[in-house]
Amino acid sequence: MKWNRRNVLTSCLGAAAFAATPAAANAATSSSWKAQRRVPYGAALGLADLDSDPRLGAAIAELCSLIAPVDELKWSRLRPNASTFAFERADSLMSFAQRNGLSMRGHTLVWYASMPEWTKAIDTPAKAERALVEHIETVVSRYRGRIRSWDVVNEAIPDVARRPTDRRPSLWFELLGDRHFALAFRTAAAADPQAQLALNEYDVEFGDEHFPAKRAAFRNLVFRLLDAGAPLHAVGLQCHLRGAKAIDRDGLGRFVGELHAAGVKVLITELDVLDNELPPSPLERDQIVARQVGDLLATVTAAGPLDAVLTWGISDRYSWIPYMFPRRDGLPNRPLPLDRDFGRKPFMQTIDRFTGRTA
Ligand code: XIL
Repeated sequence: MKWNRRNVLTSCLGAAAFAATPAAANAATSSSWKAQRRVPYGAALGLADLDSDPRLGAAIAELCSLIAPVDELKWSRLRPNASTFAFERADSLMSFAQRNGLSMRGHTLVWYASMPEWTKAIDTPAKAERALVEHIETVVSRYRGRIRSWDVVNEAIPDVARRPTDRRPSLWFELLGDRHFALAFRTAAAADPQAQLALNEYDVEFGDEHFPAKRAAFRNLVFRLLDAGAPLHAVGLQCHLRGAKAIDRDGLGRFVGELHAAGVKVLITELDVLDNELPPSPLERDQIVARQVGDLLATVTAAGPLDAVLTWGISDRYSWIPYMFPRRDGLPNRPLPLDRDFGRKPFMQTIDRFTGRTA
C-alpha cells in the first residue's frame, strides 16, 4: 500500500478520530456505562421507530455512544428527484444524536440497492460521474465535521465471487467500472478531509461455501484501492451473522490482521444474528447467539483494536430480520442485544465484555 499523510494520521488518532465532540465527552463522563467502554458501541436507528417509541431513544441514549441511520441517508430517502436533496429525516436523527451526546455514522453514499426510479435515466458515463460526484459532495459537505465516519461504498462484492476481481453489478459499476470506487473515496475526502472513509461489506466472516471467495474479492478491492492511493481509512464488517455458523477464526483473523498492518481501521458496522434456523427455545437461542457474537468479537479484537462496534438496531422489536429472515415456526426473531421489551439479553453482556464495560 502507499502510505500517505492521511493514513498515518488516522492510525495515530485511533478511535478518537470520530469519537468525541465536546458534547459526547460530557455525556460520556455523566454516563458511567458509556464512560467505561474502551470500544465505542452504537446501534442503527430508524426515525419512524424513534418517533413512535420513547423506549427506543432512551435505550440508545443510555447504552450507545454512536448511531447510524437505517435508511435515512440512502439515495431512496435523500433523493426524491434529480435536483432535490431531502435532508429532513437525516437531520432529525442528527439532532437526536446531538441532543444525547452521540455521534452519527454516515450510511451510505454508493450502494447498488435503494436507488430511486429516476436514477434509471442516468445512462451514460458522463451523467453517472456528474450524479455521483454531486451527490457525494453535497451530502458529505452538509455533515462535514458532524458525521465523522462514512460508509462510502457499501456491498461492492457479489455474493458468489468467481474471481477476486469480481464486483457486484450496479448503476455505477455498469457505467463507470472500477474507477467509480476511487472516485467516490476521493470526492468524499475532498468534501470532508477529516472524515473517516470506509468500505463496508457482509458475509466475510465464515470459512465454508462461497464465503472465502467473497472475502478474497473484498480483500482484492481493499488493497487495489490502497495501492491506487485512494483515501480508504477503514473497513466495515457488517456481520449479519448466519446463526450458529462457525466464525472462521483463522481466515477472518488473518484478514483483519492484514488490514491493521496496512494502517486500515476495522469497524463492525451492522451486527445482528439471523436466528431463523436456530432452535425455538428463546433461552437456548439467546445462548447460541451470544456465543457466536463472542466468537466474532474475540476473533476481530485478537487481530487488533476494534474502532467501533454497531448493531443493526438494538431491540428485537425494531429489526429488519423478521422481514427478511422470518422463522418458519412463526416465533418472533431474537437477533439483537435487547429483547422486544428492552430487556438485556446475553448478546448485550457479550458486547459489554468486549467493549470494556464490565459491571
Ligand atoms: C436495510 C434496512 O434495515 C431496511 O430497513 C431496508 O429496507 C433495506 O436495508 N446491509 C446494509 C443495510 O448495508 O443498509 C441494510 O439495511 C441491511 C443490509
